[in-house]
Amino acid sequence: MHIAVIGSGYVGLVAGACFADLGHDVMVVDNDAAKLAALNRGEVPIHENFLPELLHRHRGTRLKFSDDLETAVRASSAIFVAVGTPPTEQGEADLSYVESVARGISGAINDYKIIVEKSTVPVYTSDWVRKIILRNGAESSAFDVASNPEFLREGTAVTDFLYPDRIVIGADSERCVAVLREVYAPLAEGTYYDRPDAIPCPDRAQIPPPLIVTSAKSAELIKHASNAFLAMKISFINAVASICESVGANVQQVCQGIGSDTRIGSRFLNPGIGYGGSCFPKDLMAFRAVARECGYDFRLLDEVMRINEEQRLRFIRKVRSALWTLRGKKLGVLGLAFKGGTDDIRESPAILLIQSLLQEGCQISAYDPAAHDRAREVLNSTVSFADSAYDAAHAADALLILTEWEEFAALDLKRLHTELKYPIVIDGRNLYDPEIMAASGFTYYSVGRPSASPEPIPSAPAEPPRRKSKLL
Ligand code: UDX
Ligand code: UDX
Repeated sequence: MHIAVIGSGYVGLVAGACFADLGHDVMVVDNDAAKLAALNRGEVPIHENFLPELLHRHRGTRLKFSDDLETAVRASSAIFVAVGTPPTEQGEADLSYVESVARGISGAINDYKIIVEKSTVPVYTSDWVRKIILRNGAESSAFDVASNPEFLREGTAVTDFLYPDRIVIGADSERCVAVLREVYAPLAEGTYYDRPDAIPCPDRAQIPPPLIVTSAKSAELIKHASNAFLAMKISFINAVASICESVGANVQQVCQGIGSDTRIGSRFLNPGIGYGGSCFPKDLMAFRAVARECGYDFRLLDEVMRINEEQRLRFIRKVRSALWTLRGKKLGVLGLAFKGGTDDIRESPAILLIQSLLQEGCQISAYDPAAHDRAREVLNSTVSFADSAYDAAHAADALLILTEWEEFAALDLKRLHTELKYPIVIDGRNLYDPEIMAASGFTYYSVGRPSASPEPIPSAPAEPPRRKSKLL
C-alpha cells in the first residue's frame, strides 16, 4: 500500500521505516529542511537500535523523504500524522501542527483516503481533524479519520513497533478499519515474523499481536490512559520507596513481593529519581487538561506529578546527607538522557537534577554513552563532559548515577574506587547491590533501600528545614 507519514520524529521516522519493512511504499514528509537533508544524505538523526539497518534497507526504494505534503497525500491511501503535540503553558496539548497538517491534506484528497492520528492527541481530536478537512473543501465520503496510537518506547522503538503488545485501531467506519487491517496484516497475521530478514524478536513478545478495534474516541483515550497509568505505577513505587527509607525496609524486596501478583506485574516498578521523557510528563498534563475540559477533576494525576517532582527533591537531600555542604563539591555524574538506550534528554530527570546541583554551587563532570551532543545544547559549559564513567568519577567527592544505562551497572568497581576522591556512590537508579558496594569499600546510597558502607554510617545530624529550591 502507498502510505504517507507526516513528521519524521521518533514516532514518524520509526513508523515510516517499519511500514516499509512490512512491504509498504512509504513517503515520510517533514517541514524541517535540515532534518530532511540529513535523512536524504543517509544519516540517522536519532539513536535507535535497528533503525540504521531499516533505513539502509529501504531508503530510496520503499522509503522516501520529502517536504511535499500534497504530492505525498495524493499518492497515498493512508496518511499517518506524527507531528509534534508539545504542551502549551497551561499543559494542554498544542494541536496547531496537527491542524495545519489537516488543512494541508484537505486539498489533496483525490480519491478515498484515511487520515490516521499517530501522535498522542486528546480525545475529540479526530472530530476536529474531520471538521477542518471538510471545512477546507473535501467531500465527506472521500475520507475517514482514525486513531492508531503508538506505544513505542524510545531506545526500543523499532522492536516495540514490530512486536507490539497490541495494535489499536480506532475508527468509526468499516471501510476505514479495513484499510488499517491491511496496513498491519503482516504483523496481525504473523507473516512478517516468518521472514528470514525480520527484525529479531525481543523477549516476552506476543506473536501475532492482538488487533483491537475500537471507536476513534476510545483509541485516543487508550493512549492517554495507558501513559497515565504507567506513570502512576512509577510514582506509586517511588512513594513506597520513600516509606521504605523511613522505616528501614527494602523496596526491592517489596517490589518482588507485590510484583509477583499477576494482577500487579513486576514491569515498570523500578523506583528511582522519577520519570521523564517527551511523553509521560506532557501526556499526563494533557490528560489532566482533557479531564478538566470534560468536567472531571482527575486529581489523582496531580499526585502522580507531585510525587515525581518530590523524587528529585528527595535525591538532592540524599546527596546533602552524604556530603553535608554542597558548595564547591566536585561530583561525577553518570547519565544525562532521560533513560538508558536513548540520546533523548527531553524532560530528563538527570538534567533537571544537574541544574539544581549547579545552582547549589557544585562542580559537575558528566558522562553519558549517547546524549552529550543534545546535553551540550542545554548545559553548555556549565558542566564538563567526561570521556568515560571513570573519567567522570576522577577525583570526585562522590559519584551520582542518574540514568539506567546497562553499562553503568557493570563498571569495574576497583577502578572506580581508585578514581574517586571519596568512595561515595549515590545511585538514583538502584543499579548496584548495596552489600556488594559495601564489600567493595563504597559508602552507597540508593532509592528505597538501606544505605551501605564498609563501616557503620553515622546517622547525619538532623537537617534544619531548608528553603524550597526554585529549579526542582
Ligand atoms: C510525536 C508526538 O509529538 C508525540 O505527541 C507523541 O507522543 C509521539 O510522537 P516525536 O516523534 O517525539 O513525538 O515528535 P518530534 O520528535 O517532535 O517530531 C515531530 C516531527 O514533525 C518533527 O520532525 C517536525 O519537524 C515535524 N513536523 C512538525 C512537521 O513535519 N510538520 C509540522 O507541521 C510540525
Ligand atoms: C513511554 C511509554 O512507555 C511508551 O509506551 C509511549 O509510547 C511513550 O512514552 P518512553 O518515554 O520512551 O515511553 O520511556 P519509558 O521506557 O516508558 O520510560 C519513561 C520514564 O520512566 C523514563 O524516565 C524512565 O527512566 C522512567 N521509568 C520507567 C522509571 O523510573 N521506572 C520504571 O519502572 C520504568
